[in-house]
Amino acid sequence: MNKAGPATERVMSRMTPAILRFRSRFLKQLVLKQRAFKQWGAIREDLARYLLIAALVGACAAAFAYVAGWLSPGRLSADRIVDALEAHDGKHPGFRRAHAKGLCFSGTFDSNGQGGELSRASVFQPGRYPLIGRFSTGGGMPQAPDGRVVFHAVGLSFSLPHGELWRAALDDVPIFPVATPQAFFDFQRATAPDPATGKPDAARIAAYLAVHPETRAFNQWLKDNPVPSSFANGTYYSINAFRFTDAEGVQHFVRWSLVPEAAFEALDKSTLSTLDKNYLFGEVIGRIQQGPQRWHLLLSVAEPGDTIDNATVQWPASRRAIDAGTLTIDHASLEDDGACRDITFDPLVLPAGIGPSDDPLLSARSAAYSSSLTRRSGEPAQPSALAQEHAAGEKQQ
Ligand code: HEM
Repeated sequence: MNKAGPATERVMSRMTPAILRFRSRFLKQLVLKQRAFKQWGAIREDLARYLLIAALVGACAAAFAYVAGWLSPGRLSADRIVDALEAHDGKHPGFRRAHAKGLCFSGTFDSNGQGGELSRASVFQPGRYPLIGRFSTGGGMPQAPDGRVVFHAVGLSFSLPHGELWRAALDDVPIFPVATPQAFFDFQRATAPDPATGKPDAARIAAYLAVHPETRAFNQWLKDNPVPSSFANGTYYSINAFRFTDAEGVQHFVRWSLVPEAAFEALDKSTLSTLDKNYLFGEVIGRIQQGPQRWHLLLSVAEPGDTIDNATVQWPASRRAIDAGTLTIDHASLEDDGACRDITFDPLVLPAGIGPSDDPLLSARSAAYSSSLTRRSGEPAQPSALAQEHAAGEKQQ
């Protein structure tokens, strides 16, 4: 059907063929232009989309570079801290960059419900919770001898209802040598061996200690206090404070410790170097084979005015402590294929009801543990000192 009206028909009948050809060419060009315009619109939309994607990728790359410290090489990143640990004790592929020598274990925590007064965390509800963990000695050398004045330590990972975890790493000292990540870094650098001599530089250490009275106080604490004769008779401390929230939403600042049931005995500091290389680890394996080893989980509560963000400052011994239950270790296994190998005891893996305090060491620890895990898990695994001893023993038989 012709849609043109009578007026249009009259105009068209007066058009010459040349005008009609011109008109048809004009209309064709118009259609082509409209098509090109539409295509350009589509191209523009695509371009905008590509630009948006490029901007997002760029922003991610910039954020990654920032977090990695590439944009601010002077910033103290976790990687720089772990580099300093490697420079201090050497790089030992496949091993933790701190507390490199260790032994996995498993056991349970029997909560008596008393901790519920301070925190609504499920771990403080009455019940039994399975756990895995790791005994370790301080330092980054996996073959170091056990007879040293060095941290004896324990890492714990409690498995809680609804898939929650509580991870903790404790040392057998109630205070830490440094209060900040920067001081940790400076301390590592000051005590690292000088590449020229292979030994720490006394002048550098003296310069560091001159401005760090808290590290001098820690060294004094180590001198004055005995070294436990076993992993099983040592007391272990969270050192950092944490924020507990109870069922009413009230907050309490808490430090926790594990107090052994085994009677305390001390090693003779003057003969430490004569002990077997793997003395402590062999000893605790023997104890666990004879029977479960137990500790009490004590929760110490801060009072108003107590320092809660500085790991070098102890709270008075008179602070109220709640015995929250009994931790039992009944099985040990070499870390080479043990369940503790591929995890970190990151102090910020916390169940609802426990949160970090403002102590700046906590986030630095979390990031450094992660950097150490990333490095070691990408490296070929070497046999641990205990696995080597075990293999040597089997050969002799
Ligand atoms: C800024 C301060 C600290 C830094 C940078 C640091 C760094 C590290 C690193 C890199 C690891 C190895 C992590 C892994 O590969 O699994 C580690 C392990 C450990 N740290 Fe720290 N640490 C700090 C403070 C502390 C404090 C205050 C404590 C004690 C409360 C502690 C206790 C431990 C323990 C027990 C382990 C061994 C855990 C295990 O058996 O795997 N650290 N630390």
